[in-house]
Amino acid sequence: MSAKIIDGKKISEILRTETAEAVKNRPEGTRKPGLAVIIVGDDPASKIYVNNKKKACEICGFNSYEYAMPADTSEKELLSLIDRLNNTTEVDGILCQLPLPSHIDENKVIDAISPEKDVDGFSPVNTGNLLAGKPCFAPCTPAGVVEMLKFEGIETAGKHCVIVGRSNIVGKPAALLMLRENATVTICHSRTENLPEQVKKADIVIAAIGKANFITEDMIKEGAVVIDVGINRLPDGKVTGDVDFEKVKEKAAAITPVPGGVGPMTITMLMKNTLEAWKRNL
Ligand code: GUN
Repeated sequence: MSAKIIDGKKISEILRTETAEAVKNRPEGTRKPGLAVIIVGDDPASKIYVNNKKKACEICGFNSYEYAMPADTSEKELLSLIDRLNNTTEVDGILCQLPLPSHIDENKVIDAISPEKDVDGFSPVNTGNLLAGKPCFAPCTPAGVVEMLKFEGIETAGKHCVIVGRSNIVGKPAALLMLRENATVTICHSRTENLPEQVKKADIVIAAIGKANFITEDMIKEGAVVIDVGINRLPDGKVTGDVDFEKVKEKAAAITPVPGGVGPMTITMLMKNTLEAWKRNL
């Protein structure tokens, strides 16, 4: 049996339409949500991401404010811009595209963004609130994974979710979000012994490793749900995930493709977080 292909693009379109409707039907006399996007330097991948974020703002009816700064921008200049945006009423969300040039301390920058405007969910306050199970802005990629599972009606309570990857942006927050959904969670990483055996126990696999075709069909339990967070560029220029999609789809009950799976959901959750920040500011 071939797996159901979870269409992240379609789910995103539905959710973005809902967000756009909420903006269109906002209380009379109120302003639109505003997202400030900062990019430092000219990393080509970052430029594409920032452009996609701008496009999503247009679709949702948000005001977007772009700050494209040269690669030699000093840490002080960047921190001073963030301070200004923290105090700008029209700006509900602030996002500083990562990675930053090496002379800038990323942690300092993340710490400088006001937690109420931290729609990326990277600040220590939001991270701590996520850990404590309190309301917070959750990082957009793992939040998008949970949203997709919910949209598809996939049961998470009591299920064994195995996450492969322990990054601050995906693996660790994904574990906390799946715990919140009452899953039993295992995190595997590069030092895990018998990783294939661990993954094979999973009802839900979240692959966030950053290696093309790392998850092979022999690691997958028949009927598992497989969520592929990977975005890897092959030598021929094609983009592929962390999962051997063609073979794994013959064994899984449901699977996300790359592209068109988790990717579009990340920006959709950024829009949702910004809408939420705006609602709090109304
Ligand atoms: N770089 C790669 N992914 C992200 C993200 O989700 N947010 C930001 N700010 N930078 C990134």
